[in-house]
Amino acid sequence: MLVIKDLHVKFDNRDREAVAGVSLTIEDGEILGLVGESGSGKSVTAMSIAGLLPRKQCTYSGDILLDGQDLLHAKRSDLRKIHGTKIGVVFQEPMSSMDPLMKVGEQVGEALRIHTKLDRQARKDKVIKAMESVELRDPEAVYDKYPHELSGGMQQRAMIAAAIITEPSLLLLDEPTTALDVTIQAQILELLKKLNAERKMSMLFISHNLNVVRKLCRKVAVMQKGCLVEEGLTDEIFLNPQHPYTKRLIDAIPTRIRKEGS
Ligand SMILES: Nc1ncnc2c1ncn2[C@@H]1O[C@H](COP(=O)(O)OP(=O)(O)OP(=O)(O)O)[C@@H](O)[C@H]1O
Ligand SMILES: [Mg+2]
Repeated sequence: MLVIKDLHVKFDNRDREAVAGVSLTIEDGEILGLVGESGSGKSVTAMSIAGLLPRKQCTYSGDILLDGQDLLHAKRSDLRKIHGTKIGVVFQEPMSSMDPLMKVGEQVGEALRIHTKLDRQARKDKVIKAMESVELRDPEAVYDKYPHELSGGMQQRAMIAAAIITEPSLLLLDEPTTALDVTIQAQILELLKKLNAERKMSMLFISHNLNVVRKLCRKVAVMQKGCLVEEGLTDEIFLNPQHPYTKRLIDAIPTRIRKEGS
């Protein structure tokens, strides 16, 4: 279980806090959607969980606990281990998080190389399995390809394979489908649903698109200017939004799509 208590993050070169007192919980096996306008602090919240805050350039306070273990104040060396094994991260642009000069298979297996003592063959076996579970076709061939040889959808599947290779209990997804076309986006959402159902993996799914969140997340939290303004069951919030900002977000979805839920 992930528990965030009263998280504050302020970058030294900014006047306003990027995150201004966020508290939220993700139960085991749950997918929480995090939505909000650009600059509302969604990514900084995820970065704080992922240990990617530039600690020297900001001040931060509060608690982030994963299964009781402190993530916000832990030593870098301890964090690296936790993040390599218990938390997987997937970002928006697969190409920008992949090393263009490294074979896809090696990148998917990178966390195993760093965090386990498995030999090359054992790592490769696991990589192939992970690629199969994200439904990358012909994993043996994909293993030896370079990122630019894959389509955007395949790259994102490879990044998801890399994120789940150590069987983390929590997956952080920061706009993982935004750069993909609608058909591929739908496929990736189905894949995430499957991984959640099969592996009971909890997820934080960040999106500016409430409609995408509705398809995947039972619960949703809405951020505005560093604060959570609304939180609850996605269906209930869709039917009966309380906060004016949430109402505006829902009103921004074209009526036809809102009704179809697609
Ligand atoms: N490294 C940084 N240094 C200074 N300010 C930053 C840094 N990273 C983020 N910020 C600021 O923190 C605030 C929150 O940014 P954040 O990236 O979390 O927004 P977001 O909700 O993810 O937006 P988007 O939907 O555009 O991705 C913004 O005002 C942003 O400019
Ligand atoms: Mg962001």
